[in-house]
This record gives sequence, structure tokens and C-alpha cells, in this order.
Amino acid sequence: MSSPILLQSNVALRAHNTFGIDAAAASYLRVLHVDDLRAVAADHQLAAMPRLVLGGGSNIVLTGDFPGLVLHMCTSGVEVTGETQDAVLVTAAAGENWHRLVDWTLQHGLGGLENLSLIPGSVGASPIQNIGAYGIELKDRFHSLRMIDMQSGAIRSLNRDECGFSYRDSIFKHTLRDRAVILDVTLALPRRWQACIAYAELANELRARGVAAPTARQVAHAVIAIRQRKLPDPATIGNAGSFFKNPVVGASRRDELVARHPALVSYLQADGSYKLAAGWLIDQCGWKGRSLGAAGVYEKQALVLVNRGGATGAEVMHLANAIRADVAQRFGVDLEPEPVVV
Ligand code: EPU
Repeated sequence: MSSPILLQSNVALRAHNTFGIDAAAASYLRVLHVDDLRAVAADHQLAAMPRLVLGGGSNIVLTGDFPGLVLHMCTSGVEVTGETQDAVLVTAAAGENWHRLVDWTLQHGLGGLENLSLIPGSVGASPIQNIGAYGIELKDRFHSLRMIDMQSGAIRSLNRDECGFSYRDSIFKHTLRDRAVILDVTLALPRRWQACIAYAELANELRARGVAAPTARQVAHAVIAIRQRKLPDPATIGNAGSFFKNPVVGASRRDELVARHPALVSYLQADGSYKLAAGWLIDQCGWKGRSLGAAGVYEKQALVLVNRGGATGAEVMHLANAIRADVAQRFGVDLEPEPVVV
């Protein structure tokens, strides 16, 4: 018989979201073991409550107090769990910090995650939005994950195809939303590592450092330097990384836009569509560095909204909506928020 779970009431969430928004959870559980989740799933009253799974809190906007149960994933553990012909398999618990996992793999001589250095948040959150940076997405290094289905209490394994990954998206934002809690993630790290340094800004950084054939660690150092230059550290300025997804448009729409705005920044995708740089669109509308109330647009990256001190979730969303309306009016492009708005 497992021990009863320790629910807390009216818990402040400010320290648990990187935007630093002041909000409270009606009920809160520190999840240290899968049995805690099994117990919640088995309890009709708890299972029926609105539920918010919190990892590092780096991709959410809290627009008010949360009336239900917050499950704060605090599980730990990273280990090599197997191998395939081409890769070493590393499994990390959902509650582990993502960057610490990247560091662990590099310390163990395993390359593959270095482009994803310094992304804030937890391992368990990484598949939900298929985190990506500098030319690599989680899906490129993903092997499988284990999740608990909170409706049935059953534990399931999902492979890469079953997770339905695409740009900043997965099945966990759709059919498994409000249903799955990710327990651990297994990554496949290539035995024959090759640097992925095609992303222009990363290539430039390595060139500036005089590194022609980088090691995985050197790539990590370059990525960390770029991120530290351009993105605000949530420990000092509240933020949730990129606030909008880069919108994807068809080739003819992109050509029309380029005709009107020759400096438009866009990237050709494998399927012939184009990803537009939302940061550029927002910058062009004059929002960079501006504020509405206590919510603002970061001075060095217009795609990042920041908390200038004491911002509420409503203020952040008010700013986001004003930006969205301007971009729609000027470019006819709809920006979709990237963090989960609660
Ligand atoms: N740009 C501007 N003004 C700005 C910001 C950007 O003109 O204020 C232009 C840049 O000059 C550049 C282009 O927009 O030509 C793209 O900017 P950047 O390379 O900084 O990348 P991004 O598209 O803004 C995406 C990810 C980031 C990831 C970087 C690097 C999304 C939503 N964001 O940003 O991910 O780190 O590429 O790969 O896809 C995150 O998801 O939280 C995140 C930080």
C-alpha cells in the first residue's frame, strides 16, 4: 500500500513560472513518484478536478489563480538505458531540468543535444512543444517516452511517430491534452556524431571563435553564448522564451509579402512552404523595447515578451493581443501564441 499523497492548498506559483506571474493554485501536489499520479488518477474527486501539469513553468502564462490541481513534476534521474545499432539511449525523468540533461550527456561524451543547450524548462515538457533551436528539434533525437493516462491510470510507451511531432507541436497539445502526464523521455544519441552547424548565426559564432571543426562541447558553448546575448535570463527578467510561433505561409503568399516588403525574413521549408520570422514582423511594427503596463517587448529580441515587474497574466495577454492586431493589420499574418495560456 503506497503512502497517502500530500496535497497542499492555496499555493503561490510565482516561483514556479518563469514569467514570474503572481497566481495561486487551489490545490498543489509535488510529484516525486509515479505512484503519486496513480493515486490522483484513482481518486474520483481529484481526477475530476481541472488539472495543470507543471514542469519548469517556462512555457506558460497564468492569467489568474488556477482553480484546480497543479501537478508539479519533481521526479529525478538520468541514465543510459540501452543502445541501438546507431545510437546510445539515455532516459531522463520528466522532472529533470532540460539543460542539466544536455550537460550530463556532454559530460558522458555523448553528443547530439548540444544545439538545444540552455533551453529553459523540464525534460517532461520538451516533447509537448517539440523544443527546437539552431537547426535541431527534439524529434531529431527522440526515441520514445512513457506517459500515464490519467483517465485510466495505465502507463503507455509512445514512439516518435505516435507523438505526432511537428514545429512546436505534438499530440500532447491535441488529443492527449489534459489526459497524458509524461513520466520520462528516452533520447537516441548518435554513435557517429556530426556537428549540425548550418544555422547561419551558429556558423558565424563558431567562425568568430576560430573553430572550423567543432566538438559537441564547442557547439554547446557557441549556442550558450548566442542565447545569453539575445534572450533574457528568466532568473532576472521574467519571460517564457519566444511568445509567438513563426507563422508558416504558402509560397505565393510569401512572394506577395516579399513584393511589398523586400527585407522580409523567411525560411523555405521541406514541403515548399515558408516560415516567416515573427520577430522581424513584430520589430517592423515598432514594438521592440515597448511596454504596455508592466508587460513589455524585449529590447534585443522582439519575439520575447517580458515581465518588467509585477505584470499580471492579463497584462501580458493584452500586450500580446495588441502586437497580434498590428501584425495582422500591416502584414495580413496571424501570430499564434506559443506558450500555453492558462
Ligand atoms: N529578427 C528581427 N528582429 C527581432 C528579432 C528577430 O529582425 O527583434 C529577425 C532576425 O534578424 C533573424 C530572424 O528574425 O533574421 C530570426 O531570429 P532568430 O534567429 O533570433 O530566431 P527566431 O525565429 O526569432 C527561433 C525560435 C527560438 C530559437 C531560435 C534559434 C521559435 C518560435 N523561436 O527564434 O526558440 O532559439 O529560433 O533557433 O521558433 C523558443 O521557442 O522559446 C525559442 C527561443
